[in-house]
Amino acid sequence: MSASADIAVIGLAVMGQNLILNMNDHGFRVIAYNRSAEKTDAFLDGPARNTQITGAGTLQELVAALSTPRKIMLMVKAGPAVDTVIDELVPLLDKGDIIIDGGNSNFEDSERRASSLGAQGLLFVGSGVSGGEEGARHGPSLMPGGHKAAWPHLKPIFQSIAAKTDAGEPCCDWVGDGGAGHYVKMIHNGIEYGDMQLICEAYHFMQSALGLDNAAMQATFAQWNQGYLDSYLIEITADILGFRDGDTYVVDTIMDKAGQKGTGKWTGINALELGIPLTLIGEAVFARALSALKDERVAASAILKGPSNAPAELADAWIEALGQALYAAKIISYTQGYMLMRAAAEEYGWDLQYGAIAQMWRGGCIIRSAFLDDIKAAYDKSPELDNLLLDDFFRDRIHETQESWRRIVSEAVSRGIPVPALSSALSFYDGYRCARLPANLLQAQRDYFGAHTYQRLGGDDSWHHTDWIGSGSTVSSSSYDA
Ligand code: 6PG
Repeated sequence: MSASADIAVIGLAVMGQNLILNMNDHGFRVIAYNRSAEKTDAFLDGPARNTQITGAGTLQELVAALSTPRKIMLMVKAGPAVDTVIDELVPLLDKGDIIIDGGNSNFEDSERRASSLGAQGLLFVGSGVSGGEEGARHGPSLMPGGHKAAWPHLKPIFQSIAAKTDAGEPCCDWVGDGGAGHYVKMIHNGIEYGDMQLICEAYHFMQSALGLDNAAMQATFAQWNQGYLDSYLIEITADILGFRDGDTYVVDTIMDKAGQKGTGKWTGINALELGIPLTLIGEAVFARALSALKDERVAASAILKGPSNAPAELADAWIEALGQALYAAKIISYTQGYMLMRAAAEEYGWDLQYGAIAQMWRGGCIIRSAFLDDIKAAYDKSPELDNLLLDDFFRDRIHETQESWRRIVSEAVSRGIPVPALSSALSFYDGYRCARLPANLLQAQRDYFGAHTYQRLGGDDSWHHTDWIGSGSTVSSSSYDA
């Protein structure tokens, strides 16, 4: 075999296979490898028949078939399997060769891999890949980061196979050093959790407060998808609500217990680490955790009562307010996600391009939506924008929609319908626009019981301690922030 293949892909589960087929469609010569040779053979005899795609039986064969610098993309399960494959590959490679991890890896693992491979003269790229099977096959959103020297070699392949915006721009660009690519994919997934939870809260409200059936809800989501809520997740929600098996709506047969693979949780953990109030995504993760307590909830439902008077169903006119509430909360979710990315850029030394990130998410990925054009426009206008809410466009949208948002949240609360994402987003908004929060009292409490000290309004930055109980003690504990 001559050393002429452009790229190798290791791991032939559906994402790996579809990426290979996509690369082949764009004229790249791809070599496929899977640990079990039968899987490689089945792929070559099946979906890859009559293409330029070739297979390798061993990693040695794979390495020998690649042009240099070699580009090897791993599409294996995130976690230890990635390290195992890297360890097997390293002795076979030469300096300057490129290893790409396209799984949903934790960005801290990608930081570690970039640094250890870099020390051995190899280039590591951790790339977010979003869009599921369809995206991988016909145009995913790709978020590569790591050793920038790898980018000129990967760019033609990645930008060809990526989804394109309506203007023809690729939904793929270089994100930044180390684990930046996987970090941005993690934020994408956190936002995905938030968007999904908001839609589920709207669904719950439509059922419980408006009494809509599946057909009416399907029509509402389909209609929303024609307007300012236009997005992939709203579109598939309409499809799901209309999907029947005979006379039965499939959605009604599904157990109300949400699973999770961990990326939303990582986003929440990182927000706690960096001290960013990522409340909506945090609530979305906790809502999945609460849903998973199915047996406990069923038992509690027979014991714990909600509001005593069941209110009459609301009129359909509330649907418009619900759409506006969803939109307002979505603005908060993205605001919080971007706040976290800014803090991460500072903490980890990345030069994140926020408008480019919105463009990467504009097509191909799960959170793709018309809304991302407005985010891109905001950052194109002011790349240093402190907070999305302070952009004129989003400020005006929040001002226009907040009354409906408040009405929906109050109505849900008075009816006992849980709306953790819609309501926590509203509390964040009210907190963020509050020049004076009650944290003065909190600081007083900390100082009272623990001599933790406080700063004074209008004073300098110095720290003070009050002898609250007249013990005469002026000894304070040392000040520090977690
Ligand atoms: C994507 C998705 C993808 C995956 C999620 C599911 O961007 O294509 O985010 O990565 O479907 O990881 O995550 P949960 O299993 O945690 O819901």
